[in-house]
Amino acid sequence: MRIGVLTSGGDCPGLNAVIRSVVHRAVVDHGDEVIGFHDGWKGLLEADYRKLDLDAVAGILARGGTILGSSRVQPAHLVDGVERAKGHVAELGLDAIIPIGGEGTLKAANLLAQAGLPIVGVPKTIDNDIASTDVTFGFDTAVGVATEALDRLKTTAESHQRVLIVEVMGRHTGWIALHSGMAAGAHAIVVPERPFDIEELTKRVGARFEAGKRFAIVVVAEGAKPREGSMDFDEGGKDMYGHERFAGVARQLSVELEERLGKEARPVILGHVQRGGTPTAYDRVLATRFGWHAVEAAHRGEFGMMTALRGTDITMVPLAQAVETLKTVPEDRYEEAETVL
Ligand code: F6P
Repeated sequence: MRIGVLTSGGDCPGLNAVIRSVVHRAVVDHGDEVIGFHDGWKGLLEADYRKLDLDAVAGILARGGTILGSSRVQPAHLVDGVERAKGHVAELGLDAIIPIGGEGTLKAANLLAQAGLPIVGVPKTIDNDIASTDVTFGFDTAVGVATEALDRLKTTAESHQRVLIVEVMGRHTGWIALHSGMAAGAHAIVVPERPFDIEELTKRVGARFEAGKRFAIVVVAEGAKPREGSMDFDEGGKDMYGHERFAGVARQLSVELEERLGKEARPVILGHVQRGGTPTAYDRVLATRFGWHAVEAAHRGEFGMMTALRGTDITMVPLAQAVETLKTVPEDRYEEAETVL
């Protein structure tokens, strides 16, 4: 079998572990040939690739980022994108393509699968918002980075008697905010699923100072917004690929909370540090299992499917179903967190 693999969309700790696992399972156990496309779908659209053998993936298990490179380019961005992809798959004699990516990548994977290409998707995102899989690799690492940052920020916040508003990633969902906020014992967690009321938030933070505490930490997901009419808010715009370019919820909240509370407030934006560096052991194992199972699915001819974690098992789910909705933070998970803040 000849397998093409690519990594597309925002990078994520664990991508290299998937690539390595695909190569090991395919080359060692099945005697397959594997090629890796450069910079995501762009590599497939331009037939820009290299051969991946055991030497090519040696030593990458613990490395962050992706040795193949990534981009946000998608076949649908070109008028002839789908046809071009089909042409290159035929020219290169590929029997399977394994795209590793998040929401946008999996939508593109579904589009190509519908067009008849032999696709087996692997979900990734630090945001953990892909429906149909209990967890995505990268999430555990990102939560760990955010939690460590929150722990550190507590000591400086206390020294200066400040409110620190810490913005974590999460365009549509608040999983990183919820988990890191719970793990670090933040004093308020603000997520996109639940538009915040600035008065309630001010009361909550103010109550801490009234109780004699010297500081407060608020964790906010970058995609969080105030309840309609609650405060003036700049939502930002879109980037060249139609992705949100946020105006900065932490910055806006810090101005508002400082004014309302009469306490110094500072925004801290963790940004891409959450996506960089070495994956945790959990993420390496999940990524490795996804890679292994993607190769097996390709050999069974199970195309148009995606690897998924259900409980402790890896299963295959239809791509069409996986891209239907996002996995948002349910109300009861938020309630659990609120009690312990
Ligand atoms: O999708 C993962 C994610 O980390 C989002 O939380 C974030 O909004 C986005 O990627 C940022 O991506 P970019 O690298 O394009 O700035």
